[in-house]
Amino acid sequence: GDVAVLVPAAGAGVRLGPGRPKALRLLAGESLLVHAVRRIAAAPCVHSIVVAAPTAELNAVAELLAPVAPVIVVAGGATRQESVAAALAAVPAGPGIVLVHDAARALTPPELVESVAAAVRAGQDAVIPVLPVVDTIKEVSADDAVLGTVDRSALRAVQTPQGFRRDVLAAAHAAAVDPLTDDAGLVEKQGIPVRCVPGSEYAMKITRPFDLALAEHLLAAAPA
Ligand code: C5P
Repeated sequence: GDVAVLVPAAGAGVRLGPGRPKALRLLAGESLLVHAVRRIAAAPCVHSIVVAAPTAELNAVAELLAPVAPVIVVAGGATRQESVAAALAAVPAGPGIVLVHDAARALTPPELVESVAAAVRAGQDAVIPVLPVVDTIKEVSADDAVLGTVDRSALRAVQTPQGFRRDVLAAAHAAAVDPLTDDAGLVEKQGIPVRCVPGSEYAMKITRPFDLALAEHLLAAAPA
């Protein structure tokens, strides 16, 4: 493989309700992180996996993942961006392509890892998986007055894994000032073009209790 996958997994998961850090919450008896890493490791392009774990859970995460796949575990940071930067710094020499993939997208099919990596290998600097937006989207004021309706046909919901040429991602993180919620955003700020590829509904982000319940139902059908 020529791909390193960074897995930010250091978030608290406040929106999921009280409990352990989100990546360690259970889905059908296994942590979200185990589900996610198993699917990443099933993609033939993957050379190495670096997980950014909550500082208090470094040993627990290493033990959890040892039977699943060879992984490098590092301490995450206060923001997702810091966690990604910590993981990026631990990537071994070799892979020229780096993917960043949220542990919270636990059911992401290995095929999506392959297709994002393939688009970078084919010459793109930065690649994101996207889905069309199904809801009508309104822009609103702070007091809930509707300001306008956004043209839905020009919008996409963005998933992970996001794929980059390794030097492009490293330069974007080195130049980063304000924390952003995704890595492609940092690359955009560098003026580098970002391309979309089709995402997967299975790559949904498990954020709220409803998502966890939905993921339980999807698990049996999810490609692995
Ligand atoms: O909070 P959100 O759902 O956007 O988090 C996306 C991913 O980033 C999750 O996998 C979470 O564990 C990770 N994260 C992190 N370090 C943080 C915050 C979030 O690795 N400080």
